[in-house]
Amino acid sequence: MAGPRIIVAMDFSTLALAVEFAERLEPGSCRLKVGHQLYSAAGPDAVRRLADLGFDIFLDLKYHDIPNTVAQACRAAAELGVWMVNVHAAGGPAMLSAAADAVEPGGPLVIAVTVLTSIDARQYEAIGYRGDIAERVVEFAQMAQASGLDGVVCSAQEANQLRGLLGDQFALVTPGIRPPGSQAGDQQRIMTPAAAMAAGSDYLVIGRPITGAADPAQVIREIRSDIGE
Ligand code: C5P
Repeated sequence: MAGPRIIVAMDFSTLALAVEFAERLEPGSCRLKVGHQLYSAAGPDAVRRLADLGFDIFLDLKYHDIPNTVAQACRAAAELGVWMVNVHAAGGPAMLSAAADAVEPGGPLVIAVTVLTSIDARQYEAIGYRGDIAERVVEFAQMAQASGLDGVVCSAQEANQLRGLLGDQFALVTPGIRPPGSQAGDQQRIMTPAAAMAAGSDYLVIGRPITGAADPAQVIREIRSDIGE
């Protein structure tokens, strides 16, 4: 996969804060992720303004709805010019195929969220799922691939196994990344950038270690050097 491996999670409360921050970064060194917080605050303008600064945008809205609605949402995201968009694998094969088919070749990568890393064994059972979470992650990832998607969001701990099963052309996007010495925060199962890349990650989603740094560009330079980019 070509281009920068770091995707900075732009978890800001206003577009002004996000733009001010993005202006301190280099589009050649990272991509940006717009998630529910910033999108709910600023809407598609958040994507337009950040893309205008030259960044590739991962629109992380995790669509999960009837197939037609998800397909139309993916089309709208493609028209907005995003580089990557995602859906929930739990939406099922029909929804996943509709998402994949909605995007023209050369349009955004469409990837699936497997099991959220915030779901522990208790939450998992409360939803009504049975069995092993790790097996469910594999099944969801295989379903996403069979439905024509381009990759999955997964924990770096799962990347090694998924890479072996799904091959080199399937993108593995991993949050829960912490450079050596940085705070874990609320992330439970963390991995360093170099370890995540060694495990088979293609893209590293990193938020607070970069957004909370005094010199974010320097943190990005250090991570890129650690992963040999
Ligand atoms: O600040 P931090 O590096 O923990 O940010 C991680 C980002 O990745 C956040 O935007 C979070 O919503 C997202 N994410 C995650 N775990 C998942 C899926 C998405 O941390 N399983």
